[in-house]
Amino acid sequence: MQNLLKKVLTVCLAVLLYSVQAIVPPAVTCQCPLGSTIVPPFNPSDVSFTIATRKSPQPVPLNANNLEIVENKPTKINIAGWLQLTTGPLSYFPNITREYLQKGDYNVILVHADKLMTMLEIESVQYVEPIVQTVAEMLISLRAENRLFFNNVHIIGQGLGAHIAGLVGLYIYRKMNEQIYRVTAVEVSKLGFESAPADKRVDKMDAKIVDIYHTAAGTLGLNMSLGTIDFWINGGNVPQPGCLAPQIFQEDLVSIGLCSFKMSIWYYVYTIRFVVLGEKCNSYANFKAGLCEQNERAYFGDESGTKYKGDFYLDLTCSNQKCVSNVKPLRKR
Ligand SMILES: *[C@@H]1O[C@H](CO)[C@@H](O)[C@H](O)[C@H]1NC(C)=O
Ligand SMILES: *[C@@H]1O[C@H](CO)[C@@H](O)[C@H](O)[C@H]1NC(C)=O
Repeated sequence: MQNLLKKVLTVCLAVLLYSVQAIVPPAVTCQCPLGSTIVPPFNPSDVSFTIATRKSPQPVPLNANNLEIVENKPTKINIAGWLQLTTGPLSYFPNITREYLQKGDYNVILVHADKLMTMLEIESVQYVEPIVQTVAEMLISLRAENRLFFNNVHIIGQGLGAHIAGLVGLYIYRKMNEQIYRVTAVEVSKLGFESAPADKRVDKMDAKIVDIYHTAAGTLGLNMSLGTIDFWINGGNVPQPGCLAPQIFQEDLVSIGLCSFKMSIWYYVYTIRFVVLGEKCNSYANFKAGLCEQNERAYFGDESGTKYKGDFYLDLTCSNQKCVSNVKPLRKR
């Protein structure tokens, strides 16, 4: 009986959360000027770093006193967004770390700012700048010690973390006069950024490659092409396949409300191991109508490179750790 009650309550809350966060555009939020919510001052100890490598697959703390543990090699830096925990069973960090270490000999650096990312979203947004500075200064220190080269740096940010990732690139460019190699924005959060100028959000100038993945455009995500290359998955907006019914019975309310938004990171993690393609097109409608079938294909996700630019589309359905896409390799004539 108690269990049933719990299920019913879960479903009600889920529906409420989903409708508030995904269906109804968050109207209150973007109209109030940023800074109108008073937040505690930034405390540098609220942001910490860990690093995992093939030699030491369990992440260990990385700080100003032990930079020498970093060996100079391609480096993947992960920045989670609002409500994304960076440890524990619901976190994607262990998965992305595992996939990258299986794929190559990388430094996988994880940025932990959970305390700042689990406030109200409008509050978390106000910590973007100090987090950007903390992360960028860490990378600059590593560069100064020859522990990394900016041309080997790939920052992957999810949601609010995507803006942080891009702005770290911009910070380094402005201070060091060098572009980092790549910024990946796995969905781009909208709240507080709808009318932000390019130098206050993730943008194509932030790195040599800026690849963007849209799964909740217009609701939780920005509905704009922002990168050197943008991928629109299943049209780029809500609901993503699998984000309605089955999820409701998982008792993870947050993941229900944010399901489509978060689906982007599942897709991305999948592409570290498996090839997925996107098809260049000028709209989802034209893509669906088959009008772009002869257009170029670009690797979606981790393999995305400098070669292709513009908007790419694909339909992708994932279940049981397996994804199926409707974009096939282009046949040479
Ligand atoms: C991580 O991967 C495991 C096993 O592949 C999967 O069961 C789990 O749902 C994944 N978790 C996240 C948050 O991606
Ligand atoms: C996103 O923008 C496109 C083009 O401006 C528009 O057609 C579409 O309806 C928008 N989608 C959402 C979900 O807001």
